[in-house]
Amino acid sequence: MLFGNYSRTIHVPMAEELYSQNLLIVDDEPRILHSIRRELGCERYHILSAHDGPSALQQIRDHDVGVILSDISMPGMDGISLLDTVRQEKPDVARLVLTGYGTFEHAERAINQAQVMGFLTKPWSAERLRETIRNAFEYHKTERLQGIIRDHHTHLVRSNQDLQESIREQSTRSEVIFRESIRTLARMIELHESLGEKRVDGIHSLTLRFCLKAGLEYAEADGIALSTTVRDIGNLLIPDEILNKNHRTAREKKIIEGHTILGHRILAADPVFLMARTIALGHHECWNGSGYPFGRSGDEIPLAARIAAVVDTHNHLEQNMRLRPQDIVKCMKEMSSKKLDPELLNAFITVKANSADNLSLHL
Ligand SMILES: [Fe+2]
Repeated sequence: MLFGNYSRTIHVPMAEELYSQNLLIVDDEPRILHSIRRELGCERYHILSAHDGPSALQQIRDHDVGVILSDISMPGMDGISLLDTVRQEKPDVARLVLTGYGTFEHAERAINQAQVMGFLTKPWSAERLRETIRNAFEYHKTERLQGIIRDHHTHLVRSNQDLQESIREQSTRSEVIFRESIRTLARMIELHESLGEKRVDGIHSLTLRFCLKAGLEYAEADGIALSTTVRDIGNLLIPDEILNKNHRTAREKKIIEGHTILGHRILAADPVFLMARTIALGHHECWNGSGYPFGRSGDEIPLAARIAAVVDTHNHLEQNMRLRPQDIVKCMKEMSSKKLDPELLNAFITVKANSADNLSLHL
């Protein structure tokens, strides 16, 4: 599926999802747990408690905890190891140490290993306890918000990468479809008009060099060059007896002129032919407004159509009129600012003068 992977869902949290009001207290002494519960009774926290490290970890895993306050000295898993595990599993849980020791060694280990954000030393004052817990919940809110922002940023980066990949795939696919379709249509024209084999390749190569000389980027130049090979596709719908006639009536000339509109209609079936149908419609418009089908002039004529007009004129003089190269150039110069865009014509003549370059540019 072309655009199947880039539309990742981004979860936008509700305000109540942003942070937790759950406080987990861990101490192996029940009276400590009871004391803290009592002193925080007027605060709007939901208080959980555990008497050792393993049961505290279970609480962390079962509940959305915002702050954990743990004693350091406990049987089995000590408080710092517990808080270090919490840091690894739930990094946005604010970690506090409750200790009766308060030594430098404990503080250093708690900061370096468990990256705790604060200490509460036994005995504590009720005011100090409430302030420490409040600060811890603020810290938790900030951490969680930053985590959400980081997640969203990661989602956006991945979505952008998926989108870029899809665009590349789509672009490559369109390029292949366009190129194969143009080649098929050009071959049909070759057969219908009994053109020499590989004539279309020659038109493509010449137009490509011409476009590059005129200053176009390669991708656009190649698109115009390919599209120019099918500029006369409307002729497929012109009766052969009119198409192959040497001397046509005024009505027959009008029918022939209609190959521009017929070509535009044929190529209107697929968006990949946008350039080709622009050229099919406009390659007989003239710089001075004397062309057909609409009599547009100057820059009103799309650049691609003006380029194709130069190539088409050269092709007509060379293949149909059988003029010598020097006579072709002379004849085309006389069309400057009349039939042909003068600046483009100069670029084209330069390309023809340097045709000995013999660049290997083919379909
Ligand atoms: Fe034509």
